Amino acid sequence: MWSEPVLAASLLALAVASQAAPAAPPTFARDIAPIVYQNCSVCHHPGETGPFSLLTYEDVKKRAHQIEAVTQSRYMPPWPPQPGYGDFQDERRLTAQQISLIADWVRAGALEGAPSEIPPPPQFTANWQLGPPDLNSRYNLANAFARAGKLDQALEQFRIVAAAYPQSARLQSQFAALLARAGKWPEALAQFDKAIALDPSDETTRKNRDSLIKQMAAR
Ligand code: HEC
Repeated sequence: MWSEPVLAASLLALAVASQAAPAAPPTFARDIAPIVYQNCSVCHHPGETGPFSLLTYEDVKKRAHQIEAVTQSRYMPPWPPQPGYGDFQDERRLTAQQISLIADWVRAGALEGAPSEIPPPPQFTANWQLGPPDLNSRYNLANAFARAGKLDQALEQFRIVAAAYPQSARLQSQFAALLARAGKWPEALAQFDKAIALDPSDETTRKNRDSLIKQMAAR
């Protein structure tokens, strides 16, 4: 009665063993938490604009299929600078590799992995977190306008948010990218310089600034 499944299982084990070592399935602890913590939790935590938290394995597993869908469609993480607009990069866009890793993880059963391997969830500092609800709404509104290609309205909103957080290198850099996309090049350049002065180690801002200078020179 039981010998057949045992035989089948050992044949399967042989078949697997004879191939190159199979890649271990992706886990939340090793593969997914770093992506989510770096790209999603900033908005998806209590008190922020995201409609639910993405901070724990349970949070993320519960919405695994939805997360797969919104990352495949690049609906999330939201950010205006689109690829192809003068090569402005955004550090918050996921790479194609990260997107397929999420899909692989979901298909392999959204495994947790070793809880001890889960990195600590990010701490949010006032430097980046948009506290006052008014500024949250403006930030979201700016995103929505930019997505709809209404760059003047987007700038109007973002200008207020950027002014409220003069010390946030990230916001200043995002504002610069938006200015560049809207064709306000001299102002964008000054804004990139401001962001770099706040965080000289930010490669994305430097690259965006270089692209802008090339674009200006090509005129
Ligand atoms: C800039 C803030 C921000 C970031 C970063 C962000 N989100 Fe969101 N997310 C939102 C907001 C606001 C909503 C609700 C409004 C909407 O659906 O646009 C939302 C909605 C969602 C939804 C529900 C979509 C639906 O169809 O109802 C999912 C799933 C989601 N986010 C996943 C993610 C994932 C995964 C990441 C990281 C890869 C991420 N988000 C990054 C702000 C953000």
